[in-house]
Amino acid sequence: MSHRPTATPGSDIAAWWASAVVYQIYPRSFADANGDGMGDLLGVTARLPYLQRLGVDAIWLSPFYKSPQADAGYDVADYRQVDPMFGRLDDFDGMLRKAHSLGLKVIVDLVPNHTSDEHIWFQEALAAPPGSAERDRYMFRPGKDQVAGSGDGNLAPNNWKSIFGGPAWTRTTNPDGSSGDWYLHLFDTKQPDLNWENPEVQEEMRSVLRFWLDRGVDGFRVDVAHGMVKEAGLPDWDGVAAMVEGSADAGHLPDAPGAHSDAVEPHTAHHHHDPAGDDHSADNAGHQPVSPLYPPSPFFDQDGVHEIYRDWNRVLAGYDGDRMLVAEAWVEPAERLARYIRKDEMQQAFNFDFLLAGWDAQRMAVAIEDSLEAAASVGAPSTWVLSNHDTVRHTSRFGLADPTTFPKGIAAEDEQPDAGLGLARARAATLVSLALPGSAYVYQGEELGLPEHTTLPAEARQDPTFFRTNGIERGRDGCRVPLPWKSGEPGYGFADAYAGGGPSDGVSSGAGPSDGFSSDGGPGHRPPAPPWLPQPESFGELAADRQDGVEGSTLELYRSALSLRKRHGLGSGSFCWADMHDPELGVLAFQNRDILVIANMGTEPTPVPDGYHVELSSAPGAGAAEAAFGEAAFRERAFDEPAVVGASAGRPASHASAAASAALLGGTLDAAVIAPNTAAYLVAG
Ligand code: NOJ
Repeated sequence: MSHRPTATPGSDIAAWWASAVVYQIYPRSFADANGDGMGDLLGVTARLPYLQRLGVDAIWLSPFYKSPQADAGYDVADYRQVDPMFGRLDDFDGMLRKAHSLGLKVIVDLVPNHTSDEHIWFQEALAAPPGSAERDRYMFRPGKDQVAGSGDGNLAPNNWKSIFGGPAWTRTTNPDGSSGDWYLHLFDTKQPDLNWENPEVQEEMRSVLRFWLDRGVDGFRVDVAHGMVKEAGLPDWDGVAAMVEGSADAGHLPDAPGAHSDAVEPHTAHHHHDPAGDDHSADNAGHQPVSPLYPPSPFFDQDGVHEIYRDWNRVLAGYDGDRMLVAEAWVEPAERLARYIRKDEMQQAFNFDFLLAGWDAQRMAVAIEDSLEAAASVGAPSTWVLSNHDTVRHTSRFGLADPTTFPKGIAAEDEQPDAGLGLARARAATLVSLALPGSAYVYQGEELGLPEHTTLPAEARQDPTFFRTNGIERGRDGCRVPLPWKSGEPGYGFADAYAGGGPSDGVSSGAGPSDGFSSDGGPGHRPPAPPWLPQPESFGELAADRQDGVEGSTLELYRSALSLRKRHGLGSGSFCWADMHDPELGVLAFQNRDILVIANMGTEPTPVPDGYHVELSSAPGAGAAEAAFGEAAFRERAFDEPAVVGASAGRPASHASAAASAALLGGTLDAAVIAPNTAAYLVAG
């Protein structure tokens, strides 16, 4: 590993997004203001002060548009309407106003690759004959055998598989009952792909952008940003595509229903497709790729998509303020991803290589270095992300025997993560991600150290990937569980923003807490409906009210890290590997401005360098191990492995209680070391 300084991309960009911390809200599961068991926009509004206090700069809302919810809202039936389950357009406007008044920017999700099959356009297409203008908005094709003249269209137009499992084509039925053409859906059957060669589609999506820009949104997260353009002729493809690359995925699934692939391949097992012909994997384990996609797919990362983003860049440029686009593009290698953030395209792209690196110093170091270099090559800032609504929460991934694996959900019969170990590592990884220059994304609930729900019963699951793979993929429900706001309330206070009156009183109660965690509902109070997904018991002790103001809790760790990041200008800072950086030994160390970041991902304590003191540590200090880790994990850890929690070094005042915690945890306190599974921010002097 070289210790060369790496250019700091985008640090000269004054726009807010270049260094912003963006908090992802999954509206179904954030806060329920009307007591129907489902999160809503008024719930978001009620909790904005909490987010302001957390110290984030912006929020991104996953889709809240009118939708039959076949894919939790990523199947949009009307791009200009709020689904009644989330509220009304007025509620959105009110939320936006309040967010802006609190200094928070707002990014909304745009889903341009596909619509819902219940979108008026698709309904019109089904009713119209083959070859019509209505059908040309989507990807309708006759069967392969019909084109060849050898059959009556029973064969799908090509061999593409849906990312969610099963075929990517569904055959239509003509109005007279006969079998008709097929339509393409890279995802669920209820998510037909749009035809982006059609100017009408292009103009419609421009108009959708303007609709939300006119309302005042600050940007868009672009769903499947690498998927809209397909290779001409739609050729067969024998590769495997997945949303989260590198795991056991739908394309590789055994046919036997109910069978579960335990053998989730570590990314290091893959071969790296390197267009330059360099096979990095031969000589350096740390340089192995994290998400190969080979041969290149005919439906992802086609050159044509970039014209769309140049067009949208011009649309955004017509508005005041610094509006932005962030690409959700599972593209590799990093240089290919950088093409999405060239000066005249999008402003940011999610750095999934960083997310995919897992808890492994060598892989993480490579991901950091490669993404900084790739972003610098186009003068854009990098981004850092560890979790989102499509991946097992990093708190749980990092507690698996191999913390670089990416299971597609976890069920009771699968390996269960070590909660204490996973949380310790997650807290450490968070300190790394928040100290890197660029923009960082935080997924709702990670500031509480929430684990994945790993024992959801099959009956509770709702993710289409679970059903399309006969349960072989457990699906994404486990990371989408409603948040716990208050430990003593039903649903752990998920509906704490609910003022009473029952679920039937519509969506516009407007009531809710300001920043507290209390609501007694008052007279006539009816209890809220249970949250739409059951919550695990551990959510009780991790609820926001249990961590608020408790030193060493995960919530307070995030607040401290975010405030330190702001004070020291880390988001727009500099990056250089430090002398003690030694990924082979599991030590990741870098300097950003005056902060030295050391993450100990190895097995031995690592020394605090002479002349430095610890400003912030991911280890729970001051006797707060229990609050930080939750009673259960804490108890388990106390009698289990030693020294999982690092020493809270450098702060004389906290030594006594940190010593008590460390002793309870079976570890040793030594102010001169950073324990394994811990990260710290240090300053000289
Ligand atoms: C990516 C989104 O994040 C995911 O939740 C969704 O299922 C697919 N795109 C399809 O829209």
